[in-house]
Amino acid sequence: MRRNHLWSTMAGVLVAGGAMAATIGDGPVVEQHMSQAAIESGQIPFEQIFAHGKLLFAAKFNIFDGQSRPGTTGGGAARVPGSAPRFIRTSAPDANSCAGCHNDPVAGGGGDIVANVFVLAQALDPVTESVSGQFSNERNTLGMQGSGAIEMLAREMTADLQAIRDEALSLANETGRTTRRPLVSKGVHFGFVTAHAGGQLDVSEVEGINTDLILRPFHQKGAVISLREFTNNAMNHHHGMQSTERFGQSRTGSSDFDQDGVSDELSVGDITATTIYQAALNVPGQVLPDDPAALRAVIRGERTFETVGCADCHTPSLKLNTAEFSEPNPYNPAGNLTPGSGVTPYSYDMTAFGQLPRHEKAPDGGIHVRAYTDLKRHNLCDAEVQHFCNEQVVQGGIATNMFLTRKLWDVGNSAPYGHKGDLTTITEAIMAHGGEARDSRLAFEALSTNRQAEIIEFLKSLQILEPGTPSLVVDKAGKPVDKAALVAKFARSAD
Ligand code: HEC
Ligand code: HEC
Repeated sequence: MRRNHLWSTMAGVLVAGGAMAATIGDGPVVEQHMSQAAIESGQIPFEQIFAHGKLLFAAKFNIFDGQSRPGTTGGGAARVPGSAPRFIRTSAPDANSCAGCHNDPVAGGGGDIVANVFVLAQALDPVTESVSGQFSNERNTLGMQGSGAIEMLAREMTADLQAIRDEALSLANETGRTTRRPLVSKGVHFGFVTAHAGGQLDVSEVEGINTDLILRPFHQKGAVISLREFTNNAMNHHHGMQSTERFGQSRTGSSDFDQDGVSDELSVGDITATTIYQAALNVPGQVLPDDPAALRAVIRGERTFETVGCADCHTPSLKLNTAEFSEPNPYNPAGNLTPGSGVTPYSYDMTAFGQLPRHEKAPDGGIHVRAYTDLKRHNLCDAEVQHFCNEQVVQGGIATNMFLTRKLWDVGNSAPYGHKGDLTTITEAIMAHGGEARDSRLAFEALSTNRQAEIIEFLKSLQILEPGTPSLVVDKAGKPVDKAALVAKFARSAD
C-alpha cells in the first residue's frame, strides 16, 4: 500500500479523486489517513506524524471508521458474522479508544483497575461474558511513556544475544567441539546457549526470554516485540479496526476483512503514526520533594533500593547505544511491516524530537534509559508467597508464573500495582515478591520501618511528568532541579 500524496481517504466517506470535501452529519472520526510513502519520503514533518498518531490514539472510532468486527475475532479468526455483540467488556471490542484505558495521569499513561483487560478472551469464539481466570488473564493498563527507548533497547539486546548464539554455532562448527556461552547483554544475564558440532543448538538453559532470543519488551508478560505489533493487535482487539498491513488480504477476497462494510480501515501510515506517537511520548522522570526530610528520604531510599537487591532486577539504567528510534522494527513478526522489500525505515532522534521531557543524550551519542527494569522475565512465586501466580491461561507459550520486571520509572503515579492492578500500595507490591525476589524482599522486611519508608518515598518520586516539562528531574512546581548537587550536599551531611 503506497500512495504518492500525504493523505489518503480510505473509509469511503469523503472524496473522489483525492480532493477533500466537507461532510456534514455523522461520518468517520478519522477523516484522513496518512500515507506511508509520504512518511518515508520525508515530506511530512515529525510534528504532523506525531499529531496524527495522537488523533488515532484518542479517536473514539465509530461505525464509519470501521469500529466492530462482526465477521472476525480479536485474534483475526473467522466467526459467523453477527454472532458476537458490537461491544462486550469481557471479550472485546471493549473500548472506544486507546486513550479510554491509557489515560492516567495523561494520554498514553496507564489506567484505573476499571480499565483492566481480560487478555486472550478476545480470541474466544463464542465470546465469554465471564471474567473467570479460566478464560482470560486480567491485566492492568500500562503507560507507554518512554517506550521508544524501551523498544530500541530490546532491539540492541536481541542483536547482542543472537550474535553470541551465532558465534557459538560457528565456533562449534569450526572446532568440532561443543561450545557453551553465557548470554549477556547490557549486563543482563539470560542463561546459556550451547552449540554442538553438528549445528544443533541447545537452548534448554536460556532464561527469562524466548528461545529465539528475540527480546519482547511489551505486555507485562514480555510477549510482544514492538509498539507496531502491539498497535496492530490492539486496534483489532479493542476496537475492531483492521490495519491493511495485517488484514489487507481478506478471506472473502475483498479488503473488508471483518465484514463490517468498511474496507482498508487503517493505512500503513496510520499505524506508523500511532507507533511514533507512543514512542515519542513524554519520558518519565523524577519529582523531588521540597520538604528537606522527604528529600533526604528519597536520596537515602534510592541507595537502599540498591543495597537490598531491588536493583538486581529493577536495573536503574540500561545504556542504549543509539539515540535514534527507527520504524519499523526489523524483528517484527509476520503481519507487521518490516524494513526491506521497498520499505525505507523512518527514524528520528529521541533526544531532539517528541514530547518534553525527552531523554538526555549521553556524551557518546547514546541514552541512559532509567526505566528500572532488566527487560527479563522472572518468577516471583514460592511456597509461601503466591500473589503473582494467579493466572491460568498460557500466553505466547510463556509459563504462567513468569512476568517481565516491571518498569518502575512511573511507579509514583501509576497506581494500582501488580500485573492485575489489585494492590493499592507500593509496599503491598513489594511484599508480594517471592521466588527469585525472595532474598530481596526479606532484606526489605529486615529494614527498620523508617528505612522501608525511605524506599517507598524514593519510588513515589519516580513519575510520569506533565507533558512539556523541560527537564527529567524537577521539583513539585515542575522546575528543573540539580540532583547531583543535592545528593552531594546530603552525602556531606550524612549520618
Ligand atoms: C480496554 C483497555 C485498553 C485499551 C482500549 C487499549 N489498551 Fe493498551 N493496554 C491495556 C492493558 C491492560 C495493557 C497491559 C497488558 C498486559 O500487560 O498484558 C496494555 C498494554 C499496552 C501496551 C504495552 C505497554 C508496555 O509497556 O508493555 C501498548 C503498546 C498498548 N497497550 C497500546 C495500545 C494501543 C495502541 C491501543 C489502541 C489501539 C490500546 N493499547 C488500547 C489496556 C488497553
Ligand atoms: C527477581 C527480580 C526482582 C527483584 C529482585 C525485585 N523485583 Fe520488583 N518486580 C519484579 C517483577 C517481575 C515485577 C512484576 C510483578 C507482576 O506484576 O507480575 C515486579 C514488580 C514490582 C512492583 C510493582 C510495580 C507496579 O507498578 O505494579 C514494585 C513496586 C516493585 N517490583 C518493587 C521492588 C522493590 C522495592 C524491590 C526490592 C525490595 C524489588 N521490586 C525486587 C521483579 C523483581
